[in-house]
Amino acid sequence: MAERLKHHQLGLFGHPVKHSRSPQIHAAFAKQFGIDLDYQLIDASTATLPQQFKDWMQHAHGCNITVPHKNNIMPLLDHYTERAHLSQAVNTVYWQAGELWGDNTDGDGLVLDLQQKNTTLKGARVLIIGAGGATQGIIPSLLNHGVTHISIKNRDLNKADKLAAQFDRCATYDPSDTSGFDLLIHATSMGHKGLCPSLESTWFNANTTAYDLSYGRAAEAFLKAAQAQGASRVFDGLGMLYGQAALAFEIWFGHRPVVSLPPGS
Ligand code: ATR
Repeated sequence: MAERLKHHQLGLFGHPVKHSRSPQIHAAFAKQFGIDLDYQLIDASTATLPQQFKDWMQHAHGCNITVPHKNNIMPLLDHYTERAHLSQAVNTVYWQAGELWGDNTDGDGLVLDLQQKNTTLKGARVLIIGAGGATQGIIPSLLNHGVTHISIKNRDLNKADKLAAQFDRCATYDPSDTSGFDLLIHATSMGHKGLCPSLESTWFNANTTAYDLSYGRAAEAFLKAAQAQGASRVFDGLGMLYGQAALAFEIWFGHRPVVSLPPGS
């Protein structure tokens, strides 16, 4: 009962953050358990992040971290989890025994959403387009859930090579590989400019699922192109956003909320 009456301060550090849906998502989760929380949006520059974070965490239950601070936050923490270390990014901060821990729920949030969409990961061949922070954040979780192979395709080949070298069962995309993919993930930032990478017909078969880590308008160009190439199912990343939030909420409160996406998504 004491837990139910306590007021919990949470928030999101990033730049920009004002359009974030996280306050509404966490308010809905908190309602499921009768938890009282106040989720704030904190705009922080790279220069001001350390002091803002230190001051704010004095009285907060935890926080989320988003672009561009998922890596910048790491030196400000006492510890981070294995999955945060592997992805070199933290999206969730929590207190444990008076010390600050960082975790990363992005990859498992994606997996949770894919599972809810009945997408089989065990034995899957995956192609990820993009080799930035978003890609690094999801590879450990995909590997943990039994994907057989991950190809990484990127404009800057060196970045793809470097990322592939860090993980088992990962390789830079080989254009002579025409076996097709079960799951195609778009992880570049191009969609935010209305752009889309060019897609090869050889990547698709009757069972290919296409997934964009972005959601809404930013995912439209890729999902339309994937559909035109014959993808059997296409999804934007709204479910991943909810999934990572549900897992963060579970870290803070020990309860996994039920995720229900807004109608039409
Ligand atoms: P994020 O954290 O969102 O992954 P990032 O680390 O800056 O952001 O990575 C952005 C990704 O989008 C990279 O893979 C980048 O390709 P490069 O490594 O070649 O720069 C990709 N990207 C961004 N704009 C692109 C464009 N116009 N064409 C192709 N790839 C693009």
